[in-house]
Amino acid sequence: MEGEVYYPSQESTAQSYVQDWEALAESARNDLQGFWAERANELFWFKKWDKVLDDSNKPFYRWFDGGKVNITYNCVDVHLQTFRKNKLALIWEAEDGKSERTFSYYALNREVSRMANIIKAMGVGKGDRVTIYMGRIPEITFAMLACAKIGAIHSVIFGGFSVDALHERIADSESKLIITCDGSMQNGKLVELKKIVDESLRHCPTVENVIVVKRTGHEIPMEGGRDHWFHDLCALPIANGKCATEVMDAEDPLFILYTSGSTGKPKAIVHTHGGYMVGTYTTLKYVFDINDEDRFWCTADPGWITGHSYLVYGPFLNGATVFMFEGGPAYPYPNRWWQLIERFGISIFYTAPTAIRALMRFGDAWPNKHDLSSLRLLGSVGEPINPEAWKWFHRVIGKERCPIMDTWWQTETGAFMITPTPVVPLKPGSGTRPFFGQEAEIVDEEGNPVPDGQEGFLLLKNPWPSMMRTIYGDPDRYVSTYWSKYPGKYMTGDSARRDKDGYYWIIGRVDDVIKVSGHRLGTAEVESALITHTAVAESAAIGLPHEVKGQAIYCFVQLKPGFAPSEDLSEELRQHVSRHLGPIARPEEVSFIDKLPKTRSGKIMRRVLKARAQGLPEGDLSTLEE
Ligand code: WTA
Repeated sequence: MEGEVYYPSQESTAQSYVQDWEALAESARNDLQGFWAERANELFWFKKWDKVLDDSNKPFYRWFDGGKVNITYNCVDVHLQTFRKNKLALIWEAEDGKSERTFSYYALNREVSRMANIIKAMGVGKGDRVTIYMGRIPEITFAMLACAKIGAIHSVIFGGFSVDALHERIADSESKLIITCDGSMQNGKLVELKKIVDESLRHCPTVENVIVVKRTGHEIPMEGGRDHWFHDLCALPIANGKCATEVMDAEDPLFILYTSGSTGKPKAIVHTHGGYMVGTYTTLKYVFDINDEDRFWCTADPGWITGHSYLVYGPFLNGATVFMFEGGPAYPYPNRWWQLIERFGISIFYTAPTAIRALMRFGDAWPNKHDLSSLRLLGSVGEPINPEAWKWFHRVIGKERCPIMDTWWQTETGAFMITPTPVVPLKPGSGTRPFFGQEAEIVDEEGNPVPDGQEGFLLLKNPWPSMMRTIYGDPDRYVSTYWSKYPGKYMTGDSARRDKDGYYWIIGRVDDVIKVSGHRLGTAEVESALITHTAVAESAAIGLPHEVKGQAIYCFVQLKPGFAPSEDLSEELRQHVSRHLGPIARPEEVSFIDKLPKTRSGKIMRRVLKARAQGLPEGDLSTLEE
């Protein structure tokens, strides 16, 4: 094999579900539907499907059509009939370390049922949308599973988004109910989640009720008739007792999750009960080899797809013990995560390159203070991992024993698409090869495959169970965004190259999506936040490389007449974006420009801005307006 290769050790592969990668890949290649049917058969169905894959109306694929199922039943109820009933499902620790909560599968069922009873009592039923906006606390998990249990569609909004982002998503989904908490803690500071909800609900007529979980306990206004404390609702007789699980069609929507595209408003990606369940269950099992001895920690927030698939659904489907931590990696000290791995005996640790790079900077002494010997597998997701960070993670955290699963996937794919398994030889910075049943292709602008070693657009060739089904309320956009440019193939929006060994190397987005610290943001959203400021005539946001964050947001602003550029105004605009869109979207820099470079048809030439900002050649300017 070419380049630097890390071969799997006997120790790391001894208990792997997949011993013969090639054989399983071959069987999936020969019989895609048979492969997935076998995986689906490991889960519980009220009624089995009539057809594994219905591709009669491409690209609106249907999986396990005719099947009757409920993902929450598979996450919770099935385990109650086994020894797992008394096994820990969830271990949670507060940011300040002063509170720890644990839930067995038995307790998980009680919590989910109670939450489901309450949601139902609020008049929410099958197909209704519920917006969930809270910090990383156990109740967010219960809320998601509870919605699924009764057939409601959850829409989780990341707690790092603010008023405008939240408002837009609540309005688009026409949610009836909001589940939130009074506040959350971030690096020792209070984030006023409920206050942000109040502001964003000003013009949301569909919202009837708001359930508020008490987390921080600070004083907040409650609107009579609309807002209800969760603990008060729990005391009502209606909250307690069994809650029937709704029997869902495999293709019924499970959740929508808003994600940024290249243009316009964020898109609500739709995932389903059946296919998403089979996809997340199988990928987690095979890639992280999860079993009953493990303690699995995925550091993602439930507000992103990684949190949905691998902090909530995937692990519970596998009956695993999940660890959830409220805080971030370096508060109050840069050993916080290493301390938690030691304290809770974490065996599988799944995180993002941005966090690895940030922690690497604090030096080896912090992790070296802790016993990390419980670890056996590591994982990375969200953006390309640079080889230096990969090697540090491997050497200092994994002690050269733990393979790193660099998993490439997207909100749209629901589950891992290009990823190793523990038996696969690794190359730092490559996600290796497509998962079983998947084939990838790298093409040029016209759709012709490019030779190995050359960069091109990454496409996926086969349908897969956890694929997005549509964009909520906008099926045309689903077709045009993902399936039109290269008919019959799924366009990922990423560029990549493949090496001689068939390994894929992701380069990055080819559209206007920016990955800031692994968070997916759109330039359009940042620009529409800026435009609401009185001084701004027009603006352009771009992503530029950043040593720790991967990418950072840079904005160019054209001011309205009467406003003069200044340091203060620049800072004010950064704060403006933070307040409206969210602190995660706060630009690194806002600079002023007399005139934005545009094409004759009026499109901002971000390529030119990017080159200019980095002092690089500006390339072909023949299409420039003037
Ligand atoms: C990027 C996150 C390189 C990629 C799961 C993709 C990655 C986008 C990796 C999706 C990885 C994700 N290596 N790049 N292992 N994982 N990406 O929807 O650009 O938040 O298109 O899903 O993240 O971001 P999303």
